[in-house]
Amino acid sequence: MENKMTNKIRSKLAIQGGKPVRSKPLPPESPGIHYFDEKELDLVCKVIKARSPFRFYGPDVQHMCDKLEQEFRKIYGVKHALGVSSGTEALYISLAALGVGPGDEVLIPGYLWTSCINAVVRLGAIPKLVDIDATFTMSPDDFERKIGPHSKVVLVVHISGLPGDIEEIARIAKKHNLRVLEDCAQSNGATFKGKPVGTFGDIGIVSFQLNKSITAGEGGMIICDDEHLYKRCFGIHDLGYARNEVGILMDTSCDEQYHLWGCGARMSELTGPLALAQISKLNDINNAMRETKWKIRREIENIEGISLRRVIDPEGDTGAFLITIFENPELCRNFSEALKAEGIRGEGYAKPYITMEEWGCTGILTIRVWLIGAVYMKMGGPGPYLRIILPKAINTGKEPCPCVTTWPAGLLC
Ligand SMILES: Cc1ncc(COP(=O)(O)O)c(C=O)c1O
Repeated sequence: MENKMTNKIRSKLAIQGGKPVRSKPLPPESPGIHYFDEKELDLVCKVIKARSPFRFYGPDVQHMCDKLEQEFRKIYGVKHALGVSSGTEALYISLAALGVGPGDEVLIPGYLWTSCINAVVRLGAIPKLVDIDATFTMSPDDFERKIGPHSKVVLVVHISGLPGDIEEIARIAKKHNLRVLEDCAQSNGATFKGKPVGTFGDIGIVSFQLNKSITAGEGGMIICDDEHLYKRCFGIHDLGYARNEVGILMDTSCDEQYHLWGCGARMSELTGPLALAQISKLNDINNAMRETKWKIRREIENIEGISLRRVIDPEGDTGAFLITIFENPELCRNFSEALKAEGIRGEGYAKPYITMEEWGCTGILTIRVWLIGAVYMKMGGPGPYLRIILPKAINTGKEPCPCVTTWPAGLLC
């Protein structure tokens, strides 16, 4: 490994006693917060000054959530968008709207976030794990193999900033009469062959939690084209009813087919302005992350013993993560130690890179449901050999560019 790199390294590695590349810890991930400015402040203040923090009615509603939904319809090119309280609830609401209930199977990829399983189980349905492939997302082959008589929905997770072969998965789902829910919580703004992820299936969701490309601290968005699904989502996200034009629940006059069990997951009118200010920065943030990620990727792609995640369409990558796979655990650990010695480290919750081992995924073909997560890998040898370098890389103007920051370990378990 060292031989191939010597032309790029002028002095000794820090781990061998050389001078570290960095002396200061990297800034925390959570790219959106680095882009907070007067815009966020101004929009939030408008709501506070208007004393109207509830989106549906109040003395002088500023319609921030409405404007945010409008932006999403425009950006994603969909007919409907619905702001909700979190990505987790967006998944639950979407599955409920798709009619998932006890006894139904929802196919989910092995590499996921706990909310994906959580949403299925809370509906009394059965999560059925599907292997991932070299894209680190659902394997189309295994997906088709796993479809059974009780399968109702496939929950595709566009994990770590980009999709796998979503076109093929959507095709297979259609062939078998399955509905498709796309989880774009980690890939807001990603595309596949020019088409936004989240628009290949029946419903797409994103999250505005702190570690996502853009953030309002909390919040989520559901997007879809189908009006019937939208109306079901609306009822479920609120109190189980539609609302009239002044935001009052239509408890007696609401169309009966949209009388549902609501889960009280409305978007706050204080979340709306934050996400609205942030959505205008989504492209800049993703472009900065992508540029830095691919800079690093190109530098390490020829290093012996390391291989990289398969990316079908690099242009559609948000750049949120760089995933690397090592030949053996020793190389993985050495690489990790060498990077840390170079000062590639963060403070507090910031983690510039992290191993699957550190996340608690220690075996091949292991299902390990941790306190808050589940990872199931079948990649011919990941477990401790798998390392993720997480370039939540942004040029804030305050840090040298590229600055490499991270999604925390918490993202996966
Ligand atoms: C893939 C994925 N789905 C869903 C969620 C849930 O989003 P939230 O934290 O907004 O509930 C997350 C959050 O980390 C996620 O990474």
